[in-house]
Amino acid sequence: MKAIDILKQEHRVIEGVLDALDAALGKAEAMGPTFFLETTDFMRGFADEFHHMKEENVLFELLIAHGMPRHGGPVAVMLAEHEQGRQLTRALRSAAERWAGGDVAARAEVVDNAQNFIDLLRQHIVKEDNILFMVAEQLLPPDAQTQALAEFERVEQRLAAPGTREKYIALAAQLRQTSSG
Ligand SMILES: [Fe+2]
Ligand SMILES: [Fe+2]
Repeated sequence: MKAIDILKQEHRVIEGVLDALDAALGKAEAMGPTFFLETTDFMRGFADEFHHMKEENVLFELLIAHGMPRHGGPVAVMLAEHEQGRQLTRALRSAAERWAGGDVAARAEVVDNAQNFIDLLRQHIVKEDNILFMVAEQLLPPDAQTQALAEFERVEQRLAAPGTREKYIALAAQLRQTSSG
């Protein structure tokens, strides 16, 4: 498997959870805060750590080493969107915790932050899949792509215990199932 294909595969898993989150928004009261807390667990651990760290610490650095600008170009836009995503995930998490603690007014905040997060991440993924990754495949020589693949494994090993990836894949499936019920 090629490095870019791993990132694309992770996008499909993340999109599955965004769809689940989207489905849950129309029935947030019935879903309850736990679903939203678990969604932020997934977004922090899988989307932000496993996936965004592969992009930020490996792919983007290779793109910069092969001539893409660090500032003022597509890489800077992607980094800024990752940061916006982190802020929205934190806001969503904080509102879901207050809701779980009995503050029912926090539910509207959960829904607002979740909607903004869904919109942000969906368009972010489209841009990466259709623009940035195509540029990467043309710009990066085969040895850089092989290097990326090896570094991707190290990113996950540094971040989490063995089996954590499988745990998040199972959580994604569970969230999709819960929201479709
Ligand atoms: Fe990204
Ligand atoms: Fe991505």
